[in-house]
Amino acid sequence: MEPTEAGTTATTRSVDAGLRETLRRLSVLAGSAPPFDPGRAPAEPLALFTEWLCHAIESGVAEPHAMTLSTVDETGRPWARVLICKDVTTDGGWHFAVSSISRRGRQLSTNPVAALTFYWPQLGRQIRVSGPVVRDPDDIAAADFLARPAGSREMALTRRQSEPYSDQAELDAALATARAELATAPDLVPAEWTSYAVVADTVEFWQSDTTRRHVRVQYQRADGGWTRTLLWP
Ligand SMILES: Cc1cc2nc3c(=O)[nH]c(=O)nc-3n(C[C@H](O)[C@H](O)[C@H](O)COP(=O)(O)O)c2cc1C
Repeated sequence: MEPTEAGTTATTRSVDAGLRETLRRLSVLAGSAPPFDPGRAPAEPLALFTEWLCHAIESGVAEPHAMTLSTVDETGRPWARVLICKDVTTDGGWHFAVSSISRRGRQLSTNPVAALTFYWPQLGRQIRVSGPVVRDPDDIAAADFLARPAGSREMALTRRQSEPYSDQAELDAALATARAELATAPDLVPAEWTSYAVVADTVEFWQSDTTRRHVRVQYQRADGGWTRTLLWP
């Protein structure tokens, strides 16, 4: 599809003659979860999130803590990528740790808001979280960094994430420098390693239904508590 003018696209040939039909034949929302009665949903979303997450873990959902983090750059353009959820807390919300000088770190400095999306296909469940983003205290970031595998710490210490490169030797050399740095200072934590929290003001729980009568419950912060609203599927 080629962009023509803002908001419109020109439809051209599919990349593969059969692709459209192949995509249409693929099953979707084949998973199932225990019945979800929104009338019995807890008064606040953290309890329901924890219940759903624990159920996903017990059900053997692969990487249930992987979530799509969406941020916005200085021009208003959205960017999204998958990250690991590190914790969920009653005061802070949903936590993740990244370098503040990476692309997403810079976007969070400019626009400290984000959306998170969890999707667990086997259960037909999606959870959407959004709200302002705050920085956690430095000791949380330090503990996160020190718990990371060596390779991950070495890569972070190159301080180059999301930058373009053309030479493998350049990457190898930066990693060797980082490895030497860590060998002399094993507890080193780069200043830019940052733990962030999405302090949700909106959380939506979505449960699929085979007849497409999906259930959607949206929680919104209001007056020190939360409102719960059913949304049309
Ligand atoms: C399952 C999965 C988990 C990931 N976990 C992380 C993570 O915890 N931290 C991270 O920095 N990148 C993680 N990544 C890589 C990011 O998706 C992405 O490559 C990187 O953050 C680039 O972001 P940016 O250029 O928009 O700043 C993960 C990718 C996948 C597919």
